[in-house]
Amino acid sequence: MAAIKLKTAEEIERIRKACQIVAWVLKRAGKVIKPGMTTKDLDSFCDKLIREKGGTPVFIGYRGYRHATCISVNSEIVHGIPGEKVLQTGDIVSLDVGAKLAGYCGDSAVTFPVGKVSSKASKLLRTTKAALTAGIKQARVGNHLGDISAAVQKVSETGGYTVVRELFGHGIGADLHEDPLIPNFGRPGEGPLLKPGMVLAIEPMLNMGGWKIKTLADGWTVVTADKSLSCHFEHTVLISERGPEILTERAGL
Ligand code: MF3
Ligand code: CO
Repeated sequence: MAAIKLKTAEEIERIRKACQIVAWVLKRAGKVIKPGMTTKDLDSFCDKLIREKGGTPVFIGYRGYRHATCISVNSEIVHGIPGEKVLQTGDIVSLDVGAKLAGYCGDSAVTFPVGKVSSKASKLLRTTKAALTAGIKQARVGNHLGDISAAVQKVSETGGYTVVRELFGHGIGADLHEDPLIPNFGRPGEGPLLKPGMVLAIEPMLNMGGWKIKTLADGWTVVTADKSLSCHFEHTVLISERGPEILTERAGL
């Protein structure tokens, strides 16, 4: 495995700006998601906003992917392809957005409830968000990668969910996916030491049922094998001497 790249102050500034676009797009998208909307509509909305801010949708062209976002509904975990699917009241929708600006990337995902959702679904959303927050809290200089993974796993499993084991978070910078891979399960103290200047996309994926997954015939959409509900949140996080900085939290530009 290649070494984890430590970003310079200038690189961090570029990543920060790309992340602010992503945060702004997700915030705007959250306000327009409604029953009756197709996932294609939602994707076009995000694509337009990324470009409006001078960014490029970084998912387009990634391994032949053709859309600005991944939109994964209910039992779809990640990498759902925007299309004619109509959002319905009660759905939970993971919207994953990536932008590149001046050569550097930002990546974040939010699972939104469409209208009123079941209390089971809202508990899954709350727990996944809490798992991400717990993981981010461990993204500190001197900790190990396993501290992040273990914190995510603990919150998830305490909540009664399973974590997906075949998909990971990742380093991010000039490339969307850089080392290291960040599992959502692991043991404290294991894995690489965290250093200032590392930028990590931490992305818990929690299933209501089992952790097993399947990829649909479209070659992209990853679903739960048992068709149970799944939820996904992601932030791009900088490890700094001042503690974790969530770069995709503040909508800017
Ligand atoms: N946001 C996804 C991730 O975190 C990447 C989407 S795959 C793509 O890994 F093809 F859509 F880019
Ligand atoms: Co990601």
